[in-house]
Amino acid sequence: MSSSPISDNQLANKSQAWSALFSEPMSDLVKRYTASVFFDKRLWAADIAGSLAHAEMLQAQGILSAEDHAAIERGMAQIKSEIEAGSFEWKLDLEDVHLNIEARLTELVGVAGKRLHTGRSRNDQVATDVRLWLRGEIDELSLLLNALQTALVEVAEKNAEVILPGFTHLQVAQPVSFGHHLLAYVEMFARDSERLADVRRRVNRLPLGAAALAGTSYPLDRERVARTLGMVDDKGVACVCQNSLDAVSDRDFAIEFTAAASLVMVHVSRLSEELILWMSQAFSFIDLADRFCTGSSIMPQKKNPDVPELARGKTGRVVGHLMGLITLMKGQPLAYNKDNQEDKEPLFDTVDTLKDTLRIFAEMAGGITVKPEAMERAALKGYATATDLADYLVKKGLAFRDAHEIVAHAVKTAIQAGVDLSQLPLSELQKFDARIGEDVFEGLSLRGSLEARNILGGTAPAQVRAQVARHRARLAQA
Ligand code: ARG
Repeated sequence: MSSSPISDNQLANKSQAWSALFSEPMSDLVKRYTASVFFDKRLWAADIAGSLAHAEMLQAQGILSAEDHAAIERGMAQIKSEIEAGSFEWKLDLEDVHLNIEARLTELVGVAGKRLHTGRSRNDQVATDVRLWLRGEIDELSLLLNALQTALVEVAEKNAEVILPGFTHLQVAQPVSFGHHLLAYVEMFARDSERLADVRRRVNRLPLGAAALAGTSYPLDRERVARTLGMVDDKGVACVCQNSLDAVSDRDFAIEFTAAASLVMVHVSRLSEELILWMSQAFSFIDLADRFCTGSSIMPQKKNPDVPELARGKTGRVVGHLMGLITLMKGQPLAYNKDNQEDKEPLFDTVDTLKDTLRIFAEMAGGITVKPEAMERAALKGYATATDLADYLVKKGLAFRDAHEIVAHAVKTAIQAGVDLSQLPLSELQKFDARIGEDVFEGLSLRGSLEARNILGGTAPAQVRAQVARHRARLAQA
């Protein structure tokens, strides 16, 4: 043991804090390179919550006196108000959020502050902090995902009867309800919500008690800490990481979260691409409210869909974070390595990007102006009911492949005449097959085609309304 006792001042100065082993202070460049406080201070609330739960348990286990525990609580309350008021002085010298808060605690309450770290390491501390913080963010994101779904369901209901050309290969395929089309995105975002809820279960597990890597010799009650922090399953059973080495080194939960976030962004990006196409003059299917668009500094006529374009772009950024995190882990031996400090910025940026994007999209959905005439015109241009004519012939006894061939000839004739299938006279249609009767026209109209697909999951407006009701009930429960 070193002969002279260490003063609080010395403890507050990191270059001397490690131990007497170090004979020279860290260089400024290395300090900046290794410090994380300027981004991880964002974890302060989780860090304090984790410390309070740890201290409470230390006292309950008889490891910490009631006085020390009270001092720690008092000190942490003061630190909380300092941080909230913006008066807390974050010091680069103290490397990260954990050491900054601990040093200030010791400044405020003396030796009790130094006792807080009993049975704990920054390795299990940081893993706990990130999990607690991410859990809160997942809860906010789930609400935002629900708000976006609710907004889309509303637009879908209003447009259940509106006919849009459905595309495959971006070629007109069959008429679909615009509401049905929007509900496809609601399905995607509903799966995203499920995925986030699933990720949350694995985020919500307690690493504390793993200490540096091997566990600790103090009789800690890890389950108690988990319960205090709300790290419990559906049945209220404490969720505690079961292997100390894994507890401090695992960042799978961060990767899983970023993967789920990437999928959310991919869905947003696909929707964005459609909004951009639909708003272009060539389509003119929709208009976006002015407040989501920008003009051009040179072309006075321009109104650009910047928000969906940016969202499409930011998808690359989030997927990039997923790649960053997954690569971060691939070469790490057990257990904790400093590499893991690099988990934070990608996670933070993923959450920020996702939150802003979901908020804007929920608002933007309500501001879509639909142009049903343009959609219908486009559907008519593309012979969207050709399949319906084939289906009609099948009902009259033809084999589908033969019907398909006959309709191809009919479409060719219609293209040459510059008319829609429904505009060919009956006598003309009968030249392709004598079995065609007056009743054919019902199915050849866009609306007839739409109404005919009255099957679970189909595009008939009745089905769309049924799905709207199902989504509403589901979202009300969430
Ligand atoms: N700032 C560090 C991180 O984010 C905290 C853990 C540091 N642990 C250590 N043994 N150096 O990962």
